Order: sequence, then C-alpha cells, then structure tokens
Amino acid sequence: MEAIKQAILNLRNHDVIGLPTETVYGLAAAIDSPKGIDKIFALKERPFFDPLIIHIASVEQAKSCAGEWNDKFQKLADKFWPGPLTLIVPKNDRISSKITSGLNTVGLRMPNHPLALELIKELGVPVAAPSANKFTKTSPTKYSHVKKSFPETLVLDGGDCKVGIESTILGFEDYKPVIYRPGMITPEDLGQCLGEEVLIKESPVAPGHLKHHYMPDTPLIAINKDLDLNQQQIPAPLLKSYKSWCLDVDANQAARSLYQNLRDYDHVSSSAIVLFFTKSQYEDNMFTGIFNRISKAADYFIID
Ligand code: TXA
Ligand code: MG
Repeated sequence: MEAIKQAILNLRNHDVIGLPTETVYGLAAAIDSPKGIDKIFALKERPFFDPLIIHIASVEQAKSCAGEWNDKFQKLADKFWPGPLTLIVPKNDRISSKITSGLNTVGLRMPNHPLALELIKELGVPVAAPSANKFTKTSPTKYSHVKKSFPETLVLDGGDCKVGIESTILGFEDYKPVIYRPGMITPEDLGQCLGEEVLIKESPVAPGHLKHHYMPDTPLIAINKDLDLNQQQIPAPLLKSYKSWCLDVDANQAARSLYQNLRDYDHVSSSAIVLFFTKSQYEDNMFTGIFNRISKAADYFIID
C-alpha cells in the first residue's frame, strides 16, 4: 500500500506517524484522537505541560481551530504560509486542553511540504505534531533520524528538511506581536508584513524555552573562533579528543545542516563537539534562530 494511505489509516486508528515538514520532522496524531495525542507525549517522553502545535493544510482549517481570526493573522498567513511560521491564536472548544497544556491559545502552522499537505488534506483533520525527537534531544531533519528514535513508528519519507530548524513562533500580547521562538523567518520579515515592530521575548509558557534543549549526548562547546579554546574555563578532559566544525557562512545552509552535524559529531567517540563561529555571525539577524538553538544545546557557549 502507498505509504500515505497507510499513514492515514494509522492516524484514523489513533496511532502516531512520522511527518516530514520543511523545518524538522514531526511526530503527528489527528487532533480529534485523544489516544493518539496521549501517544505523542508517551513516545516523546514529553511532559504534559509542554503544548503541541497543530498543522493545517488550509486557512479554513486554521480558522476551524481558532477562537478568533483577525486581520493580522490573515496577513501573516497570506504572506508566510505554507512556511516556517507558527501563529499563536486563541483556541476554540474543538481543541482539547491536552494539546494546549491548558492554555487558551493554540499554535497553528501550515507546513511547506507536499507530503505533509497531502496527508492533512486527505485525512481531512489537522494533526498535532511536535518535533520527532525525545524530549530535550536534537530534532530530526532526516527520515533516518526519526526511524532511529522511533523504530516502531511509520514514518513518511519526505527527504531531508530544507529549513533545518524549527518554525518561528509568533504570538500576540495586547495585540502586539511577540516572537516566542526565533527561527528563519526574522523579526524584520514579520515587522515588514505587519507594519509594526516585532520583538523577541522567550516565553515561560513555551517550555521549548527551557534552558537545555536540542542536546546531543556528547558535550557541545560553541565558541567564537577568534578565542583560544585552551584559555577558557573548560575541563581539560573535554578537550582531549574533541571533533570540531565551523558554522556555515550562509545562514540558510547553517540552519539546514545544524542538527545533522550535531548528530554526526555525536556518533564519533570523542570527548566533546566543538562548534566554531564568528562574532559577525552571532550579530547577524539571519543567525538569531540558529544561535538560539546552539546556545540551548551547548554545555559551554563562549562569545567573548
Ligand atoms: O517547525 C516546527 O515548529 C516543528 C515542526 C514539526 O512543525 N514543530 C515543533 O514542535 O518544533 P515542538 O513541539 O517541538 O515545539 C513547539 C513549541 C514548544 O516549545 C511549545 O512550548 C510551543 O511551541 N507552543 C505550543 N503551543 C503554544 C502556545 N499556545 N503558546 C506558546 N507556546 C506554544
Ligand atoms: Mg521540539
């Protein structure tokens, strides 16, 4: 049977599937399947206080989850969907509090991936999907990454993720736009669309914002490459047999390869992973989302 048909059957049978998107792979269940939603949390070993985002294939479907749909949401959807932007909007009663961890808002995103869109359209129901990794671990950007963490789960093979880090999450506070998680859609992109300034403010209500996240098993040291690695307060055993790489100069490429590199370097038997970057990359707005992930994955993050 065609994989997508099997995936739809599994979702209708209250199971979860691995879903390719342009950012990272997700672990998806139909939003009208409480059992499926429970299974996401169980498989991921994710605490129930961390809400899931919902993936839709049309603006109509987004509206069917929202308690309110205003001009700003519409403008953003027109400009950035399908794409790596999650909008936090008021939820309606269709959305269980298990999905939103009791919040009265819900995160909505239309992924820019043909297989994901086809699946959601054919299923006829939006799917809730966090990134398909164990809680706090590195997100998956390839079919094989998901299979490795969840060997029993059917995963749709949509190739390698083109964006490579998770979506930008945008919410509103008193109708003012606030970024809760930076991504490859920048505050400037959003500000231009809305005609107002957009600030980044990491939210305590979004526990993707816990300090340690995206972590490989091997300790990660991220350091400005103009500094001397040996002159830092890093325990000597970590520097015995480390493996290193330099962050790609191109932001899109750096994002696309970040999690793959973290995984590749995690597999070799080394004392640490060292990621070199430049101060100008750190100060470049295009790299904000990338450094957000690096700083949470790193045991040592040294800029100057
Ligand atoms: O690119 C992405 O967003 C990927 C792909 C699979 O779509 N998904 C993803 O999901 O990154 P997840 O669960 O790993 O991260 C979603 C983040 C979590 O940190 C969660 O706390 C936050 O979104 N979130 C979800 N609903 C929220 C809400 N109502 N208010 C604030 N933050 C919310
Ligand atoms: Mg995640």
